[in-house]
Amino acid sequence: MISFPSKQPQVQTTIFTKMSALALEHGALNLSQGFPGFDCAPALQELLQHYAKGHNQYAPMAGVPALRQSLAAKTSSFYDIPVDADTEVTIVSGATEALFAAIHCCVSPGDEVILFDPSYDAYDPIIRLAGGIPIHIPLKASNNFAIDWSSVTAKITPRTRAIMVNSPHNPTGAVWSMADLDAFAQVVKGTNILIVSDEVYEHIVFDGAQHASVLLHPELRKRSFVCGSFGKTYHITGWKIGYCIAPKFLTAEFRKLHQWVTFSSATPLQYALAEYLKEPAHYLGLSDFYQKKRDLFSSQFVGSRWKVLPSAGSFFQCLDYSAISNEKDVDLADRLTREIKVASIPVSVFYETDPGDKILRFCFAKEDEVLVEAAKRLIQIL
Ligand SMILES: Cc1ncc(COP(=O)(O)O)c(C=O)c1O
Repeated sequence: MISFPSKQPQVQTTIFTKMSALALEHGALNLSQGFPGFDCAPALQELLQHYAKGHNQYAPMAGVPALRQSLAAKTSSFYDIPVDADTEVTIVSGATEALFAAIHCCVSPGDEVILFDPSYDAYDPIIRLAGGIPIHIPLKASNNFAIDWSSVTAKITPRTRAIMVNSPHNPTGAVWSMADLDAFAQVVKGTNILIVSDEVYEHIVFDGAQHASVLLHPELRKRSFVCGSFGKTYHITGWKIGYCIAPKFLTAEFRKLHQWVTFSSATPLQYALAEYLKEPAHYLGLSDFYQKKRDLFSSQFVGSRWKVLPSAGSFFQCLDYSAISNEKDVDLADRLTREIKVASIPVSVFYETDPGDKILRFCFAKEDEVLVEAAKRLIQIL
């Protein structure tokens, strides 16, 4: 028997894999994992088909120039900032790779990285694999998961290398305001602290708000790796194509890492996206599209014992069930999948220390009939 010490002894299969497998096993409506229940646009499929001819060898390490240029132009016009396609944009295999490469290119053993709970489940293990020490700051549901920036300052030490942030937020749907950017800038000003900003839901912000990207604030932008994903914006999570936008000196280090992870990402996908990105209508309507789904899903719970928590962005709706049951969220999520056949994600798994909240996360990137049917089943539970 060959044995070796696991590098991640405490890590188990992710909750997304677990809940999706359980949903499949029980034939449940799967509102757990965050992916659309509908296909991408036929025009994008046609572009892919077109570029599958003659574009099947390695792409350049930093990404196909046409895609870097399209992305730089799109980002530049959306945020009204200059972005250099050659020195500030790198195409990678999904935001997951961007997060991994960003952390690994700057975090050395013993460095501290601050993150906020509930936090997307990849962050903590990525920091640990780099030898870093994750410093978790818990956010409270009772405070709409807002960040108390003075508590962040108190956690900064001479060993703080980076701060990981995420807006619009998975799992809570919380979004930052421009005031958050200012407060964040005050926290990091005059330090060497870097920022890894996960903005995969940048085009899904509701009620007329504008996405408060760190790219909009010079003090933040000059120290940030902005990690993005085409998967969430164009309904192509299975393509696993993402990117990192960062200043030249950070991009240089990021690419050193990226070349050893995947070297480069799928060539025909990059060419197809390079064309598709040029049309702003392909992403500008996304907030409205998902806001309608949020409103449809949340309106089903009016008058029920489920409490609908605010969802200001992303495609997640959190529901508080404290008036219904005392069960732990992991137990209830499991039971609902088996009994009423609706799968969700328990929010406690995104915390280092379970705050004891009674909250489940539901992905509403699904067909309307699925959302209505799921809600119908949920309001009947005892
Ligand atoms: C907050 C957040 N970051 C990163 C990712 C991963 O994105 P990708 O599929 O592009 O790797 C996800 C996917 O669910 C996410 O929700």
